[in-house]
Amino acid sequence: MQESKIINLPKILDERGNLSFLQNEDHLPFSIQRVYWIYDVPGGETRGGHAYREMQEFIIALSGSFDVVLFDGKEEKKFTLNRSYYGLYVPKMVWRSMENFSTNALAFVASDSFYDEHDYIRDKDLFIDEVNALKI
Ligand code: TYD
Repeated sequence: MQESKIINLPKILDERGNLSFLQNEDHLPFSIQRVYWIYDVPGGETRGGHAYREMQEFIIALSGSFDVVLFDGKEEKKFTLNRSYYGLYVPKMVWRSMENFSTNALAFVASDSFYDEHDYIRDKDLFIDEVNALKI
């Protein structure tokens, strides 16, 4: 199974303003099928709070900052994202929550699949059961 990890993106420094990019196959362990973004998050709100059975994602803080908390069924890890030139790769079957959004935070998410509600696990106990069943 793939590990969650921070992936650095190219950063083209320029006096006129910096530029970063994400190109299919070159930077991520999957090919991008869909992107979405989360914005205007009121202070104190949490997004996410689910796992995907198959989908993989890559999350970038394009603006502002927020924390992504990952739980693999055993261990919890918190990643603070606050730069637009790197992101967090989240493999399938990892419980993830996004919290502590700054004002004007913009969370950009690239996914390997189309939106599919059937791929979601929204009950944490069910997630723990399913993830443990995979390890047997
Ligand atoms: P969801 O992924 O459940 O976000 P969160 O876990 O942060 O609450 O998505 C919220 C709603 O948006 C849900 O009703 C489904 C819809 N949605 C789409 O229609 N397409 C998408 O690509 C995504 C990510 C969500």
